[in-house]
Amino acid sequence: MSLHIAARDGEIADRILLPGDPLRAKYIAETFLDDAVCYTDIRNILGYTGTYKGVRLSVQGTGMGIPSISIYATELMRDYGVKKLIRVGTCGAMRKDIRLRDVIIAQGATTDSSIIRNIFGGSINYAPLADFTLLRQAYEQSVKQGIPARVGNIVSVDRFYDDEIDNDKLTQYGIMAVEMETAGLYTLAAKYGAQALGLFTVSDHLLTGEACTPEERQTSFDDMIHIALETAIQ
Ligand code: ADE
Repeated sequence: MSLHIAARDGEIADRILLPGDPLRAKYIAETFLDDAVCYTDIRNILGYTGTYKGVRLSVQGTGMGIPSISIYATELMRDYGVKKLIRVGTCGAMRKDIRLRDVIIAQGATTDSSIIRNIFGGSINYAPLADFTLLRQAYEQSVKQGIPARVGNIVSVDRFYDDEIDNDKLTQYGIMAVEMETAGLYTLAAKYGAQALGLFTVSDHLLTGEACTPEERQTSFDDMIHIALETAIQ
């Protein structure tokens, strides 16, 4: 058992899907996995291990924001030896050519979080990157499913409500979308020598103010989960 995860040694698979919302973890386990067993419910952050197409796989909530995902990602890699981590989440679109329900793969994760400064000091602006093998596999899977993913740079912000951030400049420099965790996941995966990927569906649009209906959210979420599961078992 680690500080925030109640699993015993061996109860977590070497590959894991990471939604922010713990109830999404429950949904994924109950809908897509066979023989899923809950291994943790500390703070209601739920984690399950089961199988998908015969391959052992786990799914666990991370909470919101880099501080929260950093706790779970660190303990999963350091204490349980998890080697492949795929974040599955939603994001807000920041460019006109990105539409609601698009699937996004974060090739890089720009951030305003202090995690980079805290690790590297003042002069290095480390670039948190996806694992290329996972990225290629997820992209190929998205093409196979007929929903080619958009691949590029996203921004992992510290504040959901942020009146000061310069979104126009970020957009001008190619940032496709905003979420709140992936830069932390990529940086820590590099530290622990693990593979990490961030996959998202667009749930809202910062330029138009549009947002998915609950039904649209569910359908596009399921499409993304299929891409993530097929990638995770390779
Ligand atoms: N996740 C989904 N939409 C978001 C937004 N607009 N900002 C930050 N994180 C998000």
